[in-house]
Amino acid sequence: MDVRPGGRERGPIFAATRDLRTRPTDGSGARHVAQLWEGDGSMSGREGEGTEGVNAEVRGPDGQNALSPGSMDRNGAGSRAGPAPWALVTGASGGIGAAIVRSLARRGWNGVLVARTRDRLEGLAQELERDHGVATHVVVSDLSRQEAPGEVSEEVARQGIEVDALVNNAGFGDFGPYLDRDDGREQDMIQVNVSALTRLTRHFAAQMATRGRGRILNVASTAAFQPGPLMTVYYATKAYVLAFSEALRHELADTGVTVTTLCPGPTRSGFQSQAEMEGSRLLRLLPVSEAPSVAEFGVKAMLAGRGVAVPGLLNRLGVVSLRFVPRAWWPALVRKAQE
Ligand SMILES: NC(=O)c1ccc[n+]([C@@H]2O[C@H](COP(=O)([O-])OP(=O)(O)OC[C@H]3O[C@@H](n4cnc5c(N)ncnc54)[C@H](OP(=O)(O)O)[C@@H]3O)[C@@H](O)[C@H]2O)c1
Repeated sequence: MDVRPGGRERGPIFAATRDLRTRPTDGSGARHVAQLWEGDGSMSGREGEGTEGVNAEVRGPDGQNALSPGSMDRNGAGSRAGPAPWALVTGASGGIGAAIVRSLARRGWNGVLVARTRDRLEGLAQELERDHGVATHVVVSDLSRQEAPGEVSEEVARQGIEVDALVNNAGFGDFGPYLDRDDGREQDMIQVNVSALTRLTRHFAAQMATRGRGRILNVASTAAFQPGPLMTVYYATKAYVLAFSEALRHELADTGVTVTTLCPGPTRSGFQSQAEMEGSRLLRLLPVSEAPSVAEFGVKAMLAGRGVAVPGLLNRLGVVSLRFVPRAWWPALVRKAQE
């Protein structure tokens, strides 16, 4: 078994809901942890105490039940008068996702935090409860498993949490010539960046539409706007996220549910080492943004119900200037920038 920094264990992908535990904290909020995946590859069905062993009530900072329907003010922000709304954020264990969670918590939002690295999620949950007094629910899940989106949705339902905002942020890239890259990693990437995002959106958008309100933030990239040789599959997954989100936004226009696509340019996070792209010229050519400012930009856009949000003037200029370059040139330009 390969144990990665940050306590994440990587092993064969498997399907199991292992256990569900309640971890009371210092009284400033009750934190729950649902482990829907463990990285050692062992197959263990849900343990007997599963749902029964869980205190299904998640308490907010003031000791009141934090699970009554979330309320948003007209900008989608948490209302001080009513119970705090809940946001589900995937990829919350670091980088842009963790910064999005912090940005929402500052506005009074409770958080369902989803990723694989349990200790980072728990650390963030503790920080949010301590610094912002919001309630959290940690869900440890590997979204590259086909079953994961269904399990996450079931877990949220089991806890009685109504998700007012869905942030599909989890994702990763892979740098190098297509034919040299690993097929399994590529399938995992498509599963996380595309399939999990689509299935979580289907589940929660339907509930939001029934309630007549909700916010969805899908994290694409400036990579979404053109093909990207040397990160061929990654760019294609982000083009999907952008096209999917823009179309869905249009379909949901009369439902009270908005879909925002956040398209960051290069941003300092774990992304570059995950994608093995530290040597890419792109990182030397373009200014690299900080995750908190990208997250703040995305959260404001989502709460305001905007469509496509590209943080950073240079990134916006880059996207717009593409319109003046023949499409046939785009792959060569991107390749030059990446090499
Ligand atoms: N950084 C950039 O330059 C940049 C630019 C444009 C767009 N983006 C996009 O921004 C999003 C966030 O990336 P980041 O920059 O914040 O990178 P990051 O620091 O590597 O964070 C990626 C997050 O996704 C989670 N994740 C990855 N694989 C997962 C899996 N199989 N199951 C569950 N969670 C998984 C990671 O958590 P665990 O490892 O704990 O599972 C982590 O929380 C991604 O969609 C990325 O494509 C990034």
